[in-house]
Amino acid sequence: NSVFQGRSVLAEKDFSAAELEYLIDFGLHLKALKKAGIPHHYLEGKNVALLFEKSSTRTRSAFTTAAIDLGAHPEFLGAGDIQLGKKESVEDTAKVLGSMFDGIEFRGFKQSSVEQLAEFGGVPVWNGLTDEWHPTQMLADFMTVKENFGHLKGLTLTFMGDGRNNVANSLLVTGAILGVNVHIVAPKALFPTEETQALANKFAAESGAQLLITDDLDEGMKGSNIVYTDVWVSMGESNWEERVNLLKPYQVNMAALKKTGTPDDQLIFMHCLPAFHDATTTYGQEIKEKYGITEMEVTDEVFRSKYARQFEEAENRMHSIKAMMAATLGNLFIPRV
Ligand code: CP
Ligand code: NVA
Repeated sequence: NSVFQGRSVLAEKDFSAAELEYLIDFGLHLKALKKAGIPHHYLEGKNVALLFEKSSTRTRSAFTTAAIDLGAHPEFLGAGDIQLGKKESVEDTAKVLGSMFDGIEFRGFKQSSVEQLAEFGGVPVWNGLTDEWHPTQMLADFMTVKENFGHLKGLTLTFMGDGRNNVANSLLVTGAILGVNVHIVAPKALFPTEETQALANKFAAESGAQLLITDDLDEGMKGSNIVYTDVWVSMGESNWEERVNLLKPYQVNMAALKKTGTPDDQLIFMHCLPAFHDATTTYGQEIKEKYGITEMEVTDEVFRSKYARQFEEAENRMHSIKAMMAATLGNLFIPRV
């Protein structure tokens, strides 16, 4: 049997480079099947629960469509729908859901919640984002990188912005595992924690990835192939004024992209989305009124430029989540990797 069968996906650190690459390649394969209209019902007859404490467009849609394409039934359980954490413990919820569902996706605040679901659920549990990690985002992201460059090892990815949010943490550790050089460009107050840096350094020593944490834009941008950013204020946070002031110099704009010195055909921009690149939303209007800005982590110009890959990246959420669910729960044989 495969080393994936029955496993949960809680954090990237639990997977080897070969395993992550397998899931990335399987995602590319399933994308080709989908485009060719070839069925891939690896989860026929299964039921999967989709738990969301925080809101979502991509992750919810990706898990839902992926489950249906795989022949499974997805059931959405939102924060307002179930007792989790309010009237019932995570442990009890896990025992109940695990007795009815074959797999459980969880998006929420605490990493310990997703860990407890896995401990007591008895079925594969997939982390759809916590305050600490965003592993399914990483599968889509490195799948997108591989699609664009044909390989991963030796490329340089620069994340600029809030260097200690879930996406930054995940990029640093996943890049380190895969042998992708990762630069984090952020104000010192938002550098990744010592613990995250130590974890990433451990993997980098094995893979040969070069890691750089800096508050210097010139140094951090130099030689990048992928420039990546994320919102300045993540879900569950509300420190707008502080973040805007702290992160203003760390906006991804054309001047920042130029600092890479990378030829156009070797440079892409990525963003996990949602992005704050104009003030067309009600949220955007509020920020505009309060702080007088219409763009935050990325300018509209970069967002709509030839470098932008964020919508391919978003689509790849579905293909890669499909690969992850099929590998851990599907009726298929995967040779050891
Ligand atoms: N990138 C991402 O996780 O998007 P959602 O929050 O819309 O799921
Ligand atoms: N860092 C962001 C990612 C959203 C996909 C957040 O947690 O809100």
